[in-house]
Amino acid sequence: MEPTGNAGTAADALRKQHVIDPEICIRCNTCEETCPVDSVTHDDNNYVVDADKCNFCLDCISPCPTGAIDNWRVVNAAYSLDDQFGWSELPAQPEVRAGAPDEAADDEAGRLIAEAHRGAGGRSIAPASAAEPRINLYNRQRPAIATVTGTFRLTAPDADNDVRHVILDFGDTAFPVLEGQSIGIVAPGADGSGAPHRVRLYSVASPRDGEKPNANNLALTVKREPNGVCSNYICDLKKGDRVQVTGPFGATFLMPNDPSANILMICTGTGSAPFRAFTERRRRVMRDAPGRMMLFFGARRPEELPYFGPLQKVPEGLLRKHFAYSRVPGQPKVYVQDLMRQKADEVGILLRHPQTHVYLCGLRGMENGVDDALAAIYGNGGAEWAALRAHMRADGRYHLETY
Ligand code: A2P
Repeated sequence: MEPTGNAGTAADALRKQHVIDPEICIRCNTCEETCPVDSVTHDDNNYVVDADKCNFCLDCISPCPTGAIDNWRVVNAAYSLDDQFGWSELPAQPEVRAGAPDEAADDEAGRLIAEAHRGAGGRSIAPASAAEPRINLYNRQRPAIATVTGTFRLTAPDADNDVRHVILDFGDTAFPVLEGQSIGIVAPGADGSGAPHRVRLYSVASPRDGEKPNANNLALTVKREPNGVCSNYICDLKKGDRVQVTGPFGATFLMPNDPSANILMICTGTGSAPFRAFTERRRRVMRDAPGRMMLFFGARRPEELPYFGPLQKVPEGLLRKHFAYSRVPGQPKVYVQDLMRQKADEVGILLRHPQTHVYLCGLRGMENGVDDALAAIYGNGGAEWAALRAHMRADGRYHLETY
């Protein structure tokens, strides 16, 4: 798209404007739900940001599953809501001037544009050593077609949760993913009002070289949700079924390639999917990595914990495992954050190490509890942990993916 007229006049002040990439956005409504000042809104076409309301708090950045929200333009005159509703792709950065037409003004414009291109002020960035992800190769209009080559129940037959491991093969279609990325699944059919079902995102549970090494396939960990259209569709898939896939998505929740990076992983339920991918990656290509991997995994009971059996076989030297069970009869309820406090010595050593990366994936409800536990473990007051967390975020070493 050509730059539009939003360059304004040379005398206008420059302003940074928060915009949403309509090509990547999957219309999941997360940004609109998250925005504390109601600056995000939508019509049938696009999700958009009201420049007069947005206060750059950045609360919407990390929950966005695709990164569509992390886009910025430096403008003289802000794009209106109607401008944005009409976009089918983001406009290019327009030519702008910072007031007087001199060199300093051009420098200021250049600085702002460079800052805008870096994304949300360093709040959500990939680990420095992560491989370059490919994103948004396939969309609703042009999905990749995968074939189901396996589907297995991961929880015990009598478990409350039906969690499945589903393997999708892409045949001759290129579908490159990195550990930590997600894909979109399109359930066929339409909802009660005749609209096609929304794309749903699922974390990839296998490493970049495939569920089976060097196969063009990947695995998902999917829990059947009551009334969940897409989760029921996936959990009911049979071998040989063909599935429409979009993505890949996600450019920040990625695994460091650096073998000396320590990886602290905290999850509940199907939030374990990316961590299975991380662990398999290390096991396959960096078995003797000096960096340590530690997992805190919460589930109702062992029978409900996805990959319980296979996880027992992963050596402690490769992955230090801590399981927190909340509903074992006769035993007190334990959440991941409780167990982290119990293992404060081990966690503290990792937190103090400059090459440690923290990843949190699973129920949004655990965010505060885990944050409080990390604050208690790292220092007596929350301030020390808040400072370290900000530093780790800016360094691409602190990552949240909760829902
Ligand atoms: P609970 O027994 O209280 O539901 P699920 O099986 O529903 O997917 O949940 C996975 C695990 O996450 C369960 O053990 C569940 O405990 C636990 N959980 C629920 N809420 C929180 C929370 N706020 N913080 C940490 N863990 C939680």
